This record gives sequence, structure tokens and C-alpha cells, in this order.
Amino acid sequence: MRTVSSLSDLRAARLSLKGTVGLVPTMGYLHEGHLSLVRQAKAECDHVIVSIFVNPTQFGPKEDLSKYPRDLERDLELLSSLPAQEILVWNPSAEVMYPPGYQTWVEVEALTDPLEGAMRPGHFKGVTTVVAKLFNATQPHKAYFGQKDAQQAAVIRRMAVDLNFPLEVIICPTVREADGLAMSSRNKYLNEAERKAATVLFRALNAAKGLYENGERNGEALRRKMKEVLEAEPLAQAQYVSCADYDTLEELDGIKGKTLLSMAVFLGRTRLIDNFVLE
Ligand code: PAJ
Repeated sequence: MRTVSSLSDLRAARLSLKGTVGLVPTMGYLHEGHLSLVRQAKAECDHVIVSIFVNPTQFGPKEDLSKYPRDLERDLELLSSLPAQEILVWNPSAEVMYPPGYQTWVEVEALTDPLEGAMRPGHFKGVTTVVAKLFNATQPHKAYFGQKDAQQAAVIRRMAVDLNFPLEVIICPTVREADGLAMSSRNKYLNEAERKAATVLFRALNAAKGLYENGERNGEALRRKMKEVLEAEPLAQAQYVSCADYDTLEELDGIKGKTLLSMAVFLGRTRLIDNFVLE
């Protein structure tokens, strides 16, 4: 496995890659969710680049960037244990990504207004800016993202189309623990009781999906069902629940096409998100 940090080393390494290249952008502290994206990229591309960069511009002033978990050594071990092609790891410094005097931003408009965008002002501006920079630097044919971060996936798909990036954005399914909790670097902040209670997100989504499968097409009924399940869990505090159009993320009264059920829930001080797609 090759690991590079500077832009010149990355460019030299990229030039040496013949055939198709898949990019998996991450902030490190890798778990099975990230690794599933890397496996899919390996299966579909001749070469795989994994970027590991804790992007400061997507953290709000009240979100603790310095506390974001990091363990590069462990990340590199996990990546090198995967079979097949050698992975190129790009681990740039903040100075490489944001040189002194930095003032250029990429912003997607309406799609970033609701849900995570409403709760985390400026978050998606940081995400789209860094992802655009990762795309420019690595020139991938395909880029892999997780459905776990549903709005991020929608926003990046929009950005790639709008800015004419010559690549395919591929959204991979959410990887879960045995009890249904979506894997996340944040899960490690949960204490034992919170960890048990954290299955409430999966339970609430399943309850709403059950109604849908029984013919319920009223968006408010599905939101109400999710709230009801969340409220029955004393350790959980819902921030939002949503039943929205999959592409526009607009809240739905009546469900017709592809629909996104999503939520953000606090367990103690830890904020978790999860979602289901109804086809
Ligand atoms: P990070 O949180 O490290 O996630 C990297 C990628 O892994 C994202 O596409 C995310 O959706 C995916 N992922 C996380 N948990 C997953 C799970 N349980 N199942 C499937 N995929 C999962 O998302 C980011 O980093 C950043 O915003 C980034 C896109 C790298 C830009 O900085």
C-alpha cells in the first residue's frame, strides 16, 4: 500500500495509475461501513484511492473538531488487510487542502437547506468544497459514498452533475451492527445504556416502513409513527424526523415515488443519524 501526503506526490502516483480509478473519500477512523465502500470500489475499478482527511470546514463552531477520533496507523492496517489491488492512500494536511489566504467555496443551494443542513449551518459548504477538491486532485472515474449520510449523498450527486465532473457517483448501502444500529465513528461515544437505546433509530424506521408496506401513503402518518417510537425511548431525544422526496428532500404529505425516511437523534450528547429509502 502506498501512502502520500503532498499534492505533488499524489499527482505523480495518480499519473502512474493506468485504467479506471475509484475514489473513496473518508475522514478516517475506519469501520466496516467505510470498508464496504472500498470493497465495492475494488470490485469495480482497476485502482482504488482512499483519502483520509478530517475536513475542518465541515465542522460547526460547536462541533468538536479536535475530539474527532483519529487513528491513522490502525486505518492503514485495516486497508492493507483487504485483498486484491494495492490501495493508494492520500492523507493530506490541512495546509495542503486549505492554503493560506483560502477563499474559494463550492455551494449547493436548496438541497442543503433542510434536515442536516438546517441543523448544521455551513456543514455542506465544507463537504462539497472538500469533495470537489478531492475530485480535482484524484481525477477518479467513480466515487463511492454511503447511503448512511443520505443528504450528503444527494448533495454530492447534485454537485457532480452541476459542475460537470466526468465521473460516476456511486451510493452504497448502509452497513449495520447485528442489532440494526448503523455503523458510525460516533458510536464509540455511547455508554452502555445509550448503546442499547441507540437501536431506537432502526426500530423507528422499521415501524414506519411497516406502515408503508401495509399501504400507508400519508407522510405525516409515517413521521408520527417514527416520533412515537423515539418518544418511548427515555434516553433518546429526537432532533428531527422526516419523510421526504428522495431527490429533492422536500417533506411529503402524500407519498408517490422514491422516498427518504430520515432522522437525527441525540443519545446523551451523541448525535446519531439514520435513514431508510422506500422505493
Ligand atoms: P466519513 O464520515 O468518514 O464517511 C466516509 C464515507 O463512509 C461516507 O460516504 C459515509 O456515508 C460512508 N459511511 C459511513 N458510515 C457508513 C455505514 N455505516 N455504511 C455505509 N457507508 C458508511 O462522510 C464523510 O466522512 C465526509 O463528509 C467526507 C465525504 C469524507 C468529506 O469530508
